[in-house]
Amino acid sequence: MLNNVTYNFDENVNRVGTNCAKYDGLDRYFGYEDLQPMWVADMDFKTPKCINDAIIQAAQNSLYGYSIDSDDVYESIVHWQKTRHNWELNNEDIFMANGVVPSYSACIEAYSEVGDEVIVQTPVYPPLFKAVTANNRKVVVNELKNDNGYYTMDLEDLKSKITPKTKILCLCSPHNPVGRVWSKQELIELAKICIEHNILIISDEIHSDLTFKEFTPLASISDDIAQITLTLNSAGKTFNIAGLNTSYAISKNHEILEKFKKEARKREIHSVNFFGYVATKAAYTHGATYVDELKIYLQKNIKFTLNFLKENAPNISCFNPEATYLLWLNFENTNLSHNEIKTKLLTQAKLALNDGVSFGSNGNKYFRLNVATNEKALKIGLEKLAITFK
Ligand SMILES: Cc1ncc(COP(=O)(O)O)c(C=O)c1O
Repeated sequence: MLNNVTYNFDENVNRVGTNCAKYDGLDRYFGYEDLQPMWVADMDFKTPKCINDAIIQAAQNSLYGYSIDSDDVYESIVHWQKTRHNWELNNEDIFMANGVVPSYSACIEAYSEVGDEVIVQTPVYPPLFKAVTANNRKVVVNELKNDNGYYTMDLEDLKSKITPKTKILCLCSPHNPVGRVWSKQELIELAKICIEHNILIISDEIHSDLTFKEFTPLASISDDIAQITLTLNSAGKTFNIAGLNTSYAISKNHEILEKFKKEARKREIHSVNFFGYVATKAAYTHGATYVDELKIYLQKNIKFTLNFLKENAPNISCFNPEATYLLWLNFENTNLSHNEIKTKLLTQAKLALNDGVSFGSNGNKYFRLNVATNEKALKIGLEKLAITFK
């Protein structure tokens, strides 16, 4: 445990048998039950007491009927975005929904027609391109450039792929899985192209609180950029409450926001979970210290992992991420095929990591490692990785 801290991230929390996808879904998703789960993006840490207390308090009434949104939850979001990211919002710029992924899918339908093109920057969180094809739109891949593990946007390639049918660009900011926090300059250059070609940007900022360098919300940069942006966010990742399926969409362009609301109502994804409101409000009102301490613990785990791999498994390389607790491991130097790596991970290391190919074809020979667990479990997992790939 770190000195002078309130939260104990070293605690070993038993999650087995709680219907949790990460542990109880191993057989279903990987075909083996006896794996150490270091995959799906949630954390093995308890949510802070302020959220738990608020949920318990809300449960005192023993009644869980339909809920409605209220000014105070919007005010808590406004407060959080202002104090954490210096982004000025009004309650009217925000609309709550049942998750970033369902909202993203709604956006595809709200802002494009069947057959239109949507740009995604791979490797990227899979639902961002799956939702495009599921809604009968065409995915246009703008691969990120990979310079020895440091990824940047390929804006020349992006420009060459724009056609009159290109309606949406999907931005993952910060980026899962490559761990980049896009600089203000990178975002300005990207947005300039989108403004020129009348392309709407959906900015998925769900990991924005877990950033280790200055994060700039895309729409906070200028009025011009705000006018073409719809941002999706949630307290889910930051406070480990993803299972409450509560998120929010933001746009300063109320025409864009109204279209989102209409689509969200059509899809019935706007009636937010009873505990979701309570938890979001508590998180954004009282959760700042938790996030500050969590970021220190995550950075310690990341540093430990990178040093450990360098010393004990030098064939596995990884860029030091600027955000998230997800490490994008490169196995190219093992000289094994993607399937051989995958089999070794499952049958020898006995580890469940996310398969890089699911993030796009440029994820070949990559696997994503989740280090948001206690130090002891992390060390056990890394040792298994090192013994298998040394
Ligand atoms: C970039 C990104 N967006 C969205 C989500 C999921 O959001 P939600 O649980 O609100 O649907 C994740 C979860 O891993 C993610 O990494």
